[in-house]
Amino acid sequence: MGQIEADFQRSADTHLIAAPVPALVDAGIDLYFKDESTHPTGSLKHRLARSLFLYALCNGWIAEGTTVVEASSGSTAVSEAYFARLLGLPFVAVMPKGTSAEKLAQIEFYGGKCHFVERAAAVNEEARALAKASSGHYLDQFTFAERATDWRGNNNIAESMIAQMKHERFPIPKWVVVGAGTGGTSATIGRYLRYHRLPSRLCVADPEGSVYARYHATGDKGLLSDGSRIEGIGRPQVELSFVRSVVCRMHTVSNLESIAAMHVLGDILGRRVGPSTGTNFASVLTLATEMRARGEKGSILSLICDAGDRYRVSYYDEAWVRTHMGDIGPARSALLAKLT
Ligand SMILES: Cc1ncc(COP(=O)(O)O)c(C=O)c1O
Repeated sequence: MGQIEADFQRSADTHLIAAPVPALVDAGIDLYFKDESTHPTGSLKHRLARSLFLYALCNGWIAEGTTVVEASSGSTAVSEAYFARLLGLPFVAVMPKGTSAEKLAQIEFYGGKCHFVERAAAVNEEARALAKASSGHYLDQFTFAERATDWRGNNNIAESMIAQMKHERFPIPKWVVVGAGTGGTSATIGRYLRYHRLPSRLCVADPEGSVYARYHATGDKGLLSDGSRIEGIGRPQVELSFVRSVVCRMHTVSNLESIAAMHVLGDILGRRVGPSTGTNFASVLTLATEMRARGEKGSILSLICDAGDRYRVSYYDEAWVRTHMGDIGPARSALLAKLT
């Protein structure tokens, strides 16, 4: 516990970045992004990893020498490998084949081992089996993300970004827009907004192929799909940490829109962001366009989930995008039109 506390004390909070779009500013609409890429392990998952380790320690599930196992598309495993190293524990990450080489290198940099499965949907059971075989502990982000994070406050992501809006012209956002992988981030933000009786509404940006938008509409927990092509968000099945009842609106974003938006936001901010941030931005622009059409003023808050340099050989490689996703040209033009 002391090690994690000391690490927390050494860490600073992440920045809130204003993303001024002149035409929207003139219409009374301000956009902000909480930059979670500046955490020591480069993504929003740094917070979750800390919470999951504290949760497992305080439940007595982790002790000296315990092998820690996780099922992750990458970002969570990178952050958990960091905390496992901090505590001197062996760490194994179970993930689908084809996860970006950059993320694998980062897990191994923190001393973690990578274990691959063919089917994305098999990661959970494989991680559970590995933990059992090694008498270790399966951190299980998909089950515990919503439980391990303190949604009332304690400097969670919602408390931090709302506090950072204090001196803005619209300090209480109209909308908060986030994606959902485990659903832990959206659950924390949704609960926080309600607990503090804020009028802000929560919108989840869901990539095409994910089950979450349909689950939100139907409540059918048994839904299955081929899953998402945007790393970190969207799921092929309904995960336990996705809390449907705190989400005011779901917005489905096509892969081409997500990648086009990733580039457009990168140009506005002057640096590269990750694909799941592109999905967020596409939904932010849809909401901003609707507000503008209604003459509604206010701020919209979203997240930079991780940085773009992790995706040099995939989403930032034009040939890779054309082969795996298609032509982002029309989607890019449609997004640029929303900025004028
Ligand atoms: C890059 C990225 N963005 C967004 C998310 C979604 O976060 P959450 O799992 O809290 O829903 C993840 C989750 O893994 C991620 O890796």
